[in-house]
Amino acid sequence: MPTTEETEVALSIDISRRGREIQGSPIRKLAAVAEARKRQGVTVYHLNIGQPDLPTPPAVLDAIHHFDHTTIAYAPSNGLAPAVTAWKKYFTHHGVSFAENEIIVTAGGSEAIIFALCAVCDTDDEVIVFEPFYTNYNGFATIANVRLRAVPLSISNGFHLPPEEEIERHITARTRAILFCNPSNPTGTIYTREELQRLVNLSRKHGLFLLSDEVYREFAYDAPAISIADFPEIRDRAIVLDSCSKRFNVCGARIGALASHNADVVSAALKFGMARLSVATVDQLAVAPLLSDPETYTRPIVEEFRRRRDVVIDGLRSIPGVTYYKPEGAFYIVVGLPVKDAEHFSRWLIEEFTLENETVLVAPAPGFYATPGKGTNEVRLAFMLNEAHLHRSLRILKAALEAYHAKFGS
Ligand SMILES: Cc1ncc(COP(=O)(O)O)c(C=O)c1O
Repeated sequence: MPTTEETEVALSIDISRRGREIQGSPIRKLAAVAEARKRQGVTVYHLNIGQPDLPTPPAVLDAIHHFDHTTIAYAPSNGLAPAVTAWKKYFTHHGVSFAENEIIVTAGGSEAIIFALCAVCDTDDEVIVFEPFYTNYNGFATIANVRLRAVPLSISNGFHLPPEEEIERHITARTRAILFCNPSNPTGTIYTREELQRLVNLSRKHGLFLLSDEVYREFAYDAPAISIADFPEIRDRAIVLDSCSKRFNVCGARIGALASHNADVVSAALKFGMARLSVATVDQLAVAPLLSDPETYTRPIVEEFRRRRDVVIDGLRSIPGVTYYKPEGAFYIVVGLPVKDAEHFSRWLIEEFTLENETVLVAPAPGFYATPGKGTNEVRLAFMLNEAHLHRSLRILKAALEAYHAKFGS
């Protein structure tokens, strides 16, 4: 029988450093406060999270309802044949050619990014990212045991990439890859061919993989987003990370893909895939037909988001002191507010402020930066609401900034 003392020692066992230190989602930080506010009868407009509000295409729901296999069996680890073929067709539709054995179906873009990091990095290797960046890159890096090195971008040029030499300063002997998102979450920036060429040049010069997160590919309002697979000179170094989540409003179906011409990368990703057995069978079958005929579904969705972007820009124009640019893609914008501390403002906005019994939940931008002290006066807005609600949200933001200045100065 253990003594009481021994039992207590056993109970105080520590979890891993990774487990303790992995970042919680800054996007969801204020969500509990918002729920409390709703219970008080306040209407809360959510501009904090990229969960599309539009309906899932009926064809997907029909396929789920009419699933007629007697067993929901494991799928092959690289994906069910119809899903792999559909991804191939999808890429071809966008002018990018991958053979079926160069594609692994993953549980969303998230798993594709984790597989790619694990395939190209060893413990404590470094990966370049551009800040502000999709905050879950922190969590993926922790899972893969790699370090992110953030190259700062600036709101003053719409968060476009710095010159090649500036990026190069962040490359060390441990750097294995550059991970970027195009179109970008959280900034909505789309990199030009010339900007991507800078990354391609660095990849060739320093032997780096380019991990290109293209989950917002279709959300390109002014000019198309260029895939990293469109640069033949780095054929073996480019890894495309993709997802059906946003473009088809099927976030919960968890269907993504990793695609690369590098056979070693694909073989490693397949073995990671074998370890998790498979991606959900029903969801793969239900979503695959959309990939074979993507624009039928994406065109109306993208047009809706273009209108929403324009409503947000119109609203921001009427707010004194804000800094912004026109996002070229995705459905996010990082906005500089005329306040010292966007975290404080965002909390006050959801906890205390209402206009006609309504308020707004925004995501403070510091959570999207790796460098302490960056983005302190910025918030990210996600335009996931219909035009009328977006219009209201921007009016509330404007009134809130006036009230905040009256109460706190700046
Ligand atoms: C930039 C970016 N990459 C990847 C993902 C992962 O999404 P999923 O795993 O649903 O494909 C998201 C989700 O918001 C995202 O914004």
